[in-house]
Amino acid sequence: MKIRDFGLETFFEKYEFTAPYLLTQSDCETMSTKEILALEPGSEEEYLNLRLGYSETWGDPELREIIAGLYKTMSKEDVFVIHGAQEGIFAYMNVMLDEGDHMIAQFPNYQAAYEVANSVPGASYSKWMVKDNGSGWYVDFDELEALIQPNTKLIAVNTPDNPTGYTMTNAEIQKLIDICRKHDLYLFSDEVYKGVELDGEKRDWVADHYEKAVSLGVMSKAYGLAGLRVGWIVSKDHDILKKMARYKNYLSICDSVPSEYLTKIALKHSDEILEKTRKLIQKHVEIGNEFFARHGDLFENKPPMAGPVAFHKLKIDMPVADFCQLAVDKKGVLLLPATIYEVDEQYFRMGYGRANFPEALAKFEEFLYEEGFAK
Ligand SMILES: Cc1ncc(COP(=O)(O)O)c(C=O)c1O
Repeated sequence: MKIRDFGLETFFEKYEFTAPYLLTQSDCETMSTKEILALEPGSEEEYLNLRLGYSETWGDPELREIIAGLYKTMSKEDVFVIHGAQEGIFAYMNVMLDEGDHMIAQFPNYQAAYEVANSVPGASYSKWMVKDNGSGWYVDFDELEALIQPNTKLIAVNTPDNPTGYTMTNAEIQKLIDICRKHDLYLFSDEVYKGVELDGEKRDWVADHYEKAVSLGVMSKAYGLAGLRVGWIVSKDHDILKKMARYKNYLSICDSVPSEYLTKIALKHSDEILEKTRKLIQKHVEIGNEFFARHGDLFENKPPMAGPVAFHKLKIDMPVADFCQLAVDKKGVLLLPATIYEVDEQYFRMGYGRANFPEALAKFEEFLYEEGFAK
């Protein structure tokens, strides 16, 4: 199968490990192996003695049990462990989309969610736009329903959303499920940013409420543990999980034993890790709000509702891609222009989850003065 380049990852390839001020990252501050092991006394010895053979394609049974415990209605059998969220999206879309199928993808979105539809002959997708209300983002469920065609098979949502930072309320999740039920559609719910809601309402996992839904979770984002490459797909639809497991045999085959071990520890301490991350993001959003208040003539501020990313609007009369290029060239400050998300408007993505956010934002502000944008 042929597939287009992944725009965001191709862009990051150039800057992610060279630009000194990463002001756009979607992963939160990470931890060391030592710090994770310190959460569980006695685990270091066990970790050092792990045998490094193949592991189970479906994931370590104890890990599956722990993941099921994050949900209200799930058991170990409903959990399929994957090698990073990316593998889950790619496998799901490949096993679900057949020739002639139509899907609807929330948009803008992580490219993997809709790109497979471009590669399956005769398959297609429609964009369900997350919309700007001036100070934030919202979705329109009437518009979603209007996009449904006779051959629509599934809807792919991303909540909390990358890049807008928009997240559905629990009432909206219910509305979405009602539409899927009414039209008998599958639902792919990418929830990799779940766990760091900033408005005080803890969101439900979508798969807990709809038997044709899968929920995608991962250690990469809110937990800051992208290097583990551990994610999961949870669903009551075991037929989908089985098909994905067969597909995984052509991808990673199984996950890494040390990563699964460390994930078990991190998830046993889920609440404290997520609370630490939430507080960090909250603090950075406050610093960001002050920054945007100082530069209201240059930007429209759209703080995230949940998760570490926000999609702000540039008011300067210059293409946003050029503006972002100038920031990285002149000052080493990395931002993501909307063009990477195939959005032809003046937005750029900012990330609030890294510990050096205040320093990176200060460099960005220096850039604004030095280039004469701010007076
Ligand atoms: C919405 C969304 N889904 C999935 C992924 C992939 O995550 P992972 O790095 O765990 O494969 C990302 C990464 O940026 C993402 O933003």
